[in-house]
This record gives sequence, structure tokens and C-alpha cells, in this order.
Amino acid sequence: MKKLLVSFVFVLTLFRSYADEGMWLPLLLGDQVYKDMLKRGLKLKPEQLYSINKASIKDAIVIFGGGCTGEIVSDQGLLFTNHHCGYGAIAAASTVEANYLRDGFWASDKTKEIASKNLSVSFLNRIEDVTDKVLPALGNANGAERGQKLQAITAELVKAATGGDEFKNAVVASMFKGNQYFLFVYDVYKDVRLVGTPPESIGKFGGDTDNWEWPRHTGDFSVFRVYMSKDGKPANYNADNVPFKPKHFLPVSIKGFKDGDYSMIFGYPGSTNRYETSFGVKLSTDINNPTLVKLRDMRLKYMFEEMKKSEATKLQLASEYASIANYWKFYDGETKQLLKFDTYGEKQKAEAAFISWAKGKPEYENIFADYEKNYQEWRPYAAHRQYMIEGITGCRLIGAAAAWQNLEALLKRKDYKPEEVERMVKAADAGRKNYLANNNLKADQNILAAAVMMFYSDIDKSQHPEGFYDNLFKQFNSIEASPYKAFAADVFSNSMMTDNSKWAAFMAKPNLDALMNDPAYKVVSAFIKNFNNKYAAKFAAFSAKNNDLGRLYMKGIMEMNPDKVKMMYPDANFTMRISYGNIKSYQPRDAVKYDFVCTMNGVMAKYKPGDYEFDLPAKFIDLWKNKDYGQYADPVYKDVVVSFITTNDITGGNSGSPVIDANGNLLGLAFDGNYEALSHKLAFDKDLNRTICVDVRYVLWCIEKLGGAKHIVDELKLVK
Ligand code: ARG
Repeated sequence: MKKLLVSFVFVLTLFRSYADEGMWLPLLLGDQVYKDMLKRGLKLKPEQLYSINKASIKDAIVIFGGGCTGEIVSDQGLLFTNHHCGYGAIAAASTVEANYLRDGFWASDKTKEIASKNLSVSFLNRIEDVTDKVLPALGNANGAERGQKLQAITAELVKAATGGDEFKNAVVASMFKGNQYFLFVYDVYKDVRLVGTPPESIGKFGGDTDNWEWPRHTGDFSVFRVYMSKDGKPANYNADNVPFKPKHFLPVSIKGFKDGDYSMIFGYPGSTNRYETSFGVKLSTDINNPTLVKLRDMRLKYMFEEMKKSEATKLQLASEYASIANYWKFYDGETKQLLKFDTYGEKQKAEAAFISWAKGKPEYENIFADYEKNYQEWRPYAAHRQYMIEGITGCRLIGAAAAWQNLEALLKRKDYKPEEVERMVKAADAGRKNYLANNNLKADQNILAAAVMMFYSDIDKSQHPEGFYDNLFKQFNSIEASPYKAFAADVFSNSMMTDNSKWAAFMAKPNLDALMNDPAYKVVSAFIKNFNNKYAAKFAAFSAKNNDLGRLYMKGIMEMNPDKVKMMYPDANFTMRISYGNIKSYQPRDAVKYDFVCTMNGVMAKYKPGDYEFDLPAKFIDLWKNKDYGQYADPVYKDVVVSFITTNDITGGNSGSPVIDANGNLLGLAFDGNYEALSHKLAFDKDLNRTICVDVRYVLWCIEKLGGAKHIVDELKLVK
């Protein structure tokens, strides 16, 4: 009896649906969820949130670039997103003479806006449940075969949906671990122009020190405009294009808010795995995360060493450094929080309940035994895989040389045509130029030496590339410096990747001998081929088996609790989601309480003149001294509120997402998550999870007062 009671409680635990948890598909917002939204404070009708026939909030939300969210805020296609989302476009628009990244930029009128090559925004056109088309096509296939069949049916559905139109994009997304499939069709607008950005000292204030943390004082926003052809269609850049006319745009509220007010976020969360198993959690905390963190630590150290020495190197490496640092801190924090919450133990309890339910049900009763076996088989190689991704090819020279593998294959074929070689060599030349333009050789060389050294002691000898270390020690033994440093120096001074005349000679006469004897390519041949020949198939099998088991586990969970299914949401997969909750303060640890807002006074308190992360523009300080807040001061705080936190359930990909009030007005932009709940991809914590948002009043203050671009504020529909 006791046992039964225990499992019943844990079954509930598995499903406990807190209003804050959940990334809801807009078209599946059931009655229960909608009623819960009303209870939390929403004042809108369902069709105002999402409708296929009428304009709704969803029409103002876009995929920005490859991995962020943006929102339309005027009837002329004006768009807000995060500074860290516009970062690439801002850097690309900058030169040493006109350094918009450092100094900020505001287009004085539309003719001064800067076209951003390679940047597009996608509007969701329609969603279709295609489960009935996909599942029959997959039949009973498992593993790799299922993957191939999925690819085939996906290609078919995508082709039917886009008809090859370059301004349409379609994606078939798996929901509930492959138990359902949805087709998403987008209209893609490719003329997107930079309207303005604050200086980096505002847009990235606090840098990596403050990243993933609350309290937070970052003005993480930038402004773009979407253009369309004169006849109102998506188009490539053309000077004659006109501002996009949206079906809906978000009004902007500068009224302010209180602790506890309703908040709702629309956007594109990238990935979660809320039904990850205890085995998966343990592999992350034991091996995958610590290995990644250790290797990124090393790479960041060597990159920063060179960035400190020169402004040009800083600009060159800034963007890559930021992205490596972002998930270095994330995975370090994730491990700490998973251990703090004992997520492993919690998952085990939920699994015990599932196992006892599954007893005697042939389809389900072996799932966890199979999981255990699958993880046991893969575990010895997990660190090796991380080393390949974050260590060996973390040296970008090796990553770039890896692209020569297709040249090797071609040159080994006796019957190749000269024009095939020419095409490949041309591509290799572009890859090499790209490598040399975007990397610092000194840093990259240090990274190679360290990665190869760390691999030697961290990875089991039986997995080392055959003969590689014997040769290395033999060849670089007599030199007084470390053999690893001598080895890396040899690679960097003698590879045709870094030597122009050697490369010119190779281009003139591409031949297998020169390729195979290149010291960088020898590293590729040793490490990458070793992994690909011996371990890649094991990883593919491990992943395929995990997918099969995950699909079954999920199906079982739904069968176990039919009445809870309506309150279940599918894991994030970069499809549009709505999350709802409240603006809310929190208690990060015993005796400490965090307020729900940060202010400009707080920015000034962190100010460190000349600092890499906490410097401020002189004009900012003047305006602050004069309390020149315009219409943006908060009536309670008598200061400009810079940022606030909500209980909304979001994750990476939501960056730039609108935070919307009960009436559909914009309050701010989501840009981060808090440290105390960094385990959120695998388990949502109802007490500690917070979304960090830049307040739209600070955004407008930065545009109008700091940037002198009041004409942009005039374009908005302000709610006062
Ligand atoms: N943590 C933020 C996110 O993943 C990105 C912040 C970028 N800033 C930085 N200092 N690296 O959305």
C-alpha cells in the first residue's frame, strides 16, 4: 500500500503542471491552458493571441536570423530584437573608422538604414498537423532506417509546401519525441536593414561577468526594419523596396508594472529535454558538461590573452569569444544546478513510478533496462566525442583542414575530372581565406598544443589515434620546450594553411602527396579519421536507440495519464511558443531576496571607467547626473527601470522575444535566464526560474535621450 501511494505521488510529480511551466504551441492552446491564462490575468480572447484568419499577436512575431526572435513594433516594419542577436550584423556594418559596435548608430532617416546581407526574418504563415502523413510513412521502422524514412517524407512535405519558392521556408517538426509531427510554413523576408543600436557598452553592459545572472543592467536591444517589394511581397535587397506592412504590430506600454502583473512571451525557444532520463542527466553532469567546460576554459584563456594585446584582435575574435563564453558559463551553471536540485534523483523517482506502471506491458516494460544498457555502451567514448568537438577542432586550423577530406577522396579516385579538382580547390581556398581572416594564429596554436596534451591524459589510451603520440614524442623529444608546444609550432609554421607560397604551389598543382604530408592534415588524418572510423557509428547507434526509447517512453507517459495529456506541452524545438506567467521577485538563497527590477542608479553603481565590461559612454553619465529621464522614469522608483524578471518558461532562441502585458502591449524584450535555474533545459524549477528582460522604457530612453533618435520613438504606438 505504501509503495502504491508512493508511486502515485510520483506519477503526479511527473506531471505537476505549474502555470509558469510550459512552452505552448499557439494552435494547441486548449481550453484548460487558456482558462489558466485568464486566471493569471490575461485580458485577451484566444483569437487575439493566435488566429489563422484574423490578425493576431502571432503576426507580429518573427524568427530573426538563424536563432533569435524579433517583434514588429510599427506599421512600417520596424523590428526590435536583442543586441546580442543583432551583434553579427552590427559588427559587419562596422569599420575601424565607423565603429558602430563600439559607438552605437542611429539612422537619421530611412535612407541611412544599413542593409544587412545574409540576414532574414521569417513570419509564420501556417501550421498543419501532419502526424497522419508522417507516422504511416515511418511504419514500424526503428533506428537509422526510421531516420531515413523521416528524411524522405519530410522532403516531400516541404517541397509540396514551398513549391521551391525562395521566399518560403517549411519545416517538419517532431513533437513529443516523435509521437506527433507538425508542418510550419514561413514567409521569408530577405531585405532587413539596421536602423540603430546602442554602443556595446550599453548593449552588452556587464559582459560575461553578468551573463546568466540577475541582478542585471544590460541594455540588450537593437532595432531593424523589414522591407518588402513594391507590390507587397517578400524580396531580396533592392533600393526600391518599401517598408513592410504588417498584419499586426505590438503597441508599446510605458505605463510600468507591479510585482505580480501578468506577463506573456511569444517566441522561438530552441531546445529543451524535459523528459530526459536519469541516465542522460548523469552523463551530462559526470562527463559531457565538465569536459566541454574544461576545454572551453582553455580556449577562452588563450583567445583572451591575444585579445588583450590588440584592439584589432579584439574585434576579430569578439563574436566567437562571446558565443563560446556564453555556453561555457551555461554548462558550468547547468551542472551545478542539476546537482543542487538532485535532478538525477528526481528523475529516478519518476522513472520508478513508470517502471512499476509498465510491468506486464510488453511494449514498455523493458524501456529502462534498455536505456541503461545503451548508456553503458556509449559512456566510455563520451569524453572522446566532446574532445573532438570542443578540443581538437576547437583549434580552428584543424577544423578548417578537416574540409580537405573531400579533396583527399577525390584525388584518390584515379578517374577524377580536372574541373572537379578545380572546383574543390577553389572552395578550399575560400575556406582557408575565411580561416585566416577570422582567427588569431597565436591563440589557435596554443589551443592545439593544449588540446592534444589534454587528450593524451584524459582519453583512454586504447582510443588514441594509432601511433600519433609515439611519433609526436619521438619527433619533438629533444627540444627543451614541451613536446606539445613544439608539435603545435611545427604544424602552424609548416602547414599550407598558414603558408601562402606553399598554398599557391598546391593550388597550381593539387596532389595527394602534398596533402597527405601537410602537418595540419596529418592531425586531421590521425584524430578525425580515428573518431570517424571507430566511434562515430557507435554514437549514431546510441542516438538512434535513444530516439526509439524516448518515443516509446513519451507514448507510455501519455498512456499512463490520459487525463493529463491536455496539460502537456512538447519540448522546445525552435517552433513558435507562448509562455505565460508573472513579473515576480524571488529568493535565490536563504535570507536573500531579489527585487523584480533593476534601475539606472544600479547601472551607475557598477560603472568602472575603462573596464572591458563595465565602462559607460560619457553622455550616459551626463544624462544620469541631470536626471534627464524624459517620459521614461518609473513613478515608484523615480528612476529609469532598466530590466525586470518574470516567471516565464523560455530558453535560448527566445532571445529578443517580446514580453507582453495582459492587454497585448510590449513591456520589454527577454534576453537571458537566471543562474539559479540554469538546469531549465532538463527540469523547470517553479520557485527559482526567471526570465531576464530589458524594460522597453529603457530601450526608448536609450533611443531618444542617449541616441538622439526621437523620430524612431514617434513611429511607435505608445500606451501611456
Ligand atoms: N545568455 C544570453 C543568451 O544566451 C546571451 C548573452 C550574450 N552576452 C554575453 N555576455 N555573452 O541568450
